[in-house]
Amino acid sequence: MMKEELPVLSVYPDKPVKELGDLFGLFFEDLNHAADGGLYGELVQNRSFEFEKVDNPEYHALYAWEKVERGDSAAQIHVETSQPLNRNNQHYLTVEITRGGEGSGVKNLGYAGGIWLEKGKDYKFSCWYAKLSAEGKPVRILLEDGNGEICSTEVSFIPEEQEWTEIVLDITAVRTGAASLYLVSDEVQIFKMDMVSLFPKDTFLGRANGMRSDIAQMLADMKPKFMRFPGGCLVHCGSLNAEDRVSQYRWKNTLGTVEQRPAKRNLWGYNQTLGLGYYEFFCFCEDIHTQPLPIISAGWDPHTLRAAPLDQMQEWIDEALDLIEFANGGTDTKWGSVRAEMGHPEPFDLKYLGIGNEEVGDSFFERFEIVHQAVKERYPEIRLIGTSGPGCDGEVFRQGWDSARKMESSYVDEHYYQSTDWMLANMHRYESYPADGPKAFLGEYASRDEKYYNALVEAAFMIGMEKAPGLGLACYAPLLCNSEYINWKPDLIWFDNHRVYGTPCYQVQKLFMNHQGDYEVLTNMEGAAVLADTNLDVSGGIRFGTNSSFSVSAVKIVNRDTGECICCDGFELNAEHQEAIVAESLPWQRYTISFRAKRRCASNTEKALQLNLKFGWKDEQNYLNWIIEGWSQVSSITAMQEGRFSDLGMYYAPSSSGQETEYRLEADGSYIEAFVNGVSHGEVVYKMPVVEQLYYSASTESESSDLIMKAVNLQTDPVTVRLNIEGNKTGSVDIWELAGYEHDDVNTFDLCEKVLPRHYTLDAIPQKMTFAPESVTMLRIH
Ligand code: AHR
Repeated sequence: MMKEELPVLSVYPDKPVKELGDLFGLFFEDLNHAADGGLYGELVQNRSFEFEKVDNPEYHALYAWEKVERGDSAAQIHVETSQPLNRNNQHYLTVEITRGGEGSGVKNLGYAGGIWLEKGKDYKFSCWYAKLSAEGKPVRILLEDGNGEICSTEVSFIPEEQEWTEIVLDITAVRTGAASLYLVSDEVQIFKMDMVSLFPKDTFLGRANGMRSDIAQMLADMKPKFMRFPGGCLVHCGSLNAEDRVSQYRWKNTLGTVEQRPAKRNLWGYNQTLGLGYYEFFCFCEDIHTQPLPIISAGWDPHTLRAAPLDQMQEWIDEALDLIEFANGGTDTKWGSVRAEMGHPEPFDLKYLGIGNEEVGDSFFERFEIVHQAVKERYPEIRLIGTSGPGCDGEVFRQGWDSARKMESSYVDEHYYQSTDWMLANMHRYESYPADGPKAFLGEYASRDEKYYNALVEAAFMIGMEKAPGLGLACYAPLLCNSEYINWKPDLIWFDNHRVYGTPCYQVQKLFMNHQGDYEVLTNMEGAAVLADTNLDVSGGIRFGTNSSFSVSAVKIVNRDTGECICCDGFELNAEHQEAIVAESLPWQRYTISFRAKRRCASNTEKALQLNLKFGWKDEQNYLNWIIEGWSQVSSITAMQEGRFSDLGMYYAPSSSGQETEYRLEADGSYIEAFVNGVSHGEVVYKMPVVEQLYYSASTESESSDLIMKAVNLQTDPVTVRLNIEGNKTGSVDIWELAGYEHDDVNTFDLCEKVLPRHYTLDAIPQKMTFAPESVTMLRIH
């Protein structure tokens, strides 16, 4: 019999190749009600009667509130503004009990699904009130469910003060379930109230104004090395005036007591209370032992092209400098003393600061460089982070990197949401990134779904990140989603008003963070095969489409091998005629498509009113697309493979508004180049997915002295290797294995741990290791 020839996976614990530092972390943005109605523990929705249509067309000042009139009792409720609690909190509720009896007043419905109570648990009720009648009478506070069942103890207070006064009371739940918060009185009186609040007492670590403990625990359990906040587009989308309700995220507005924080429109279509503000973010990071990584604006909004005047950049410089002082300054400094007054005299030890989130274009980079330089001069120790826009490649992406290199930033924040195919084709993306100069910070990424297969491919991609010296930080996005308020999918963690679960991708992120290690060490595998699929195909139909209005003319498609040609004089594309098919199906792999186009209506950068040239069209699920003049005047080339989307590259294109513009696309198999008015604007390489024999890495962890090995097998067959671990490691081995699931398996509220790693222990290092088909394995060798 022939001796079995196994590939040898060698690990060299004494040969470090990369310091892993704070590699794997979290990205928090308040979208999907991640903060309000999510991580932030407040249970009352619209506690300060500040909800308005500007936040969401359905909102009004009494949103989530209802009048209560029991039996013969009667009440009138009005939202007023004449004697506000403070200048930032203009609206308050006047409750007039016009006829006493069984109790009338108001109730708050909480966020979707109601206020969830757990029997036996204590809750903190608070509100600001002032009496308006000569004598205050008891106001009863209790929670009741939709069937009129009492769900809590009842407490009461008498509005005795004429000036705004805060009252704080403890309530205990007597039932488990969803309820509404009632404030009712049995006697005739008038009083006003504001900032009506209910918090569970068992917030995460019992913090006042704290976090919902089950969600916070999910984050803590991951053991992230950093947390990026507060966004996302949330950072830059909005007006540049900090006083505006629709302003960009301005961290100074989030400080002080919660009733002093102004109402804010959240760009994701709701109201942001700012109850979870910068102080709370910093404290939470400290509580879960992670590095805070805030992102600030540089006075530029890429959605509406609003720009701070270049001679008024001091405000934006101060936004950065003051933030660093707030986090790290002594209590004798202006902003350090604000931090101390809020309860944290010790510095937060801020190390990272991002300037900008996905902004593109010269207007941004001019401003970015001004802020960057000022911060670098004053705080050279802070690791500054630039941004390369929302694409993975192309002119737009390169401008971000060029600017960061010029400014000597520490990191460049790359964002992309790509298909599993793209990830499989780009597993070695970061190998070519230099170790010196700015490092990549993959600040937002996900493979566009949250099934087991997505988790597997992301795991393999993370192995690549771990091994690449040119990549320093990475975080999946988005992090949290309230299932009743979905803005964006996929997300890492789902919750409703009382349940929470992590997707299979969460399980992978958690494995990688729990077992990151401090130093990546040398590994190699002899005898490993790469299973490549090189069957690249750009043949197919050619069609134009738009969600706007364009004139298209002089369309010409030329076969670059034979000179064969298809021509079309032109057509109008508009709301009535949104698509034009120029060729149903072409077998060509090398061709040029040229045409002229002119935009017929003003461009709207926010809505991305774009022209699409779809080529290599097979069906709705499989085609390439040249998106012309999309978001923020940026064009891009994208691919759809079996319904899975990838962005291949982005570049700037002049506006064709009112002027005829010449476009040309050259496809040469995998190499695609786009020209506008004869000038090359972008080239992309359309790579095919490749599945390698095994994706593997190893690291050492200083505190435990453990050697950690990670392996991802994407093949449908098991992979057995002989382990060769250099040195004298002889301890027991803890193994976590994620295996045995179908590609489409997901976790759900009902089956929240369907996809979960299995943990087992071996007494000694095995000589051979079999990695199960389509699996992720972590070995911790003690
Ligand atoms: O993660 C969701 C959004 O995606 C972020 O707000 C933005 O930065 C990106 O486009």
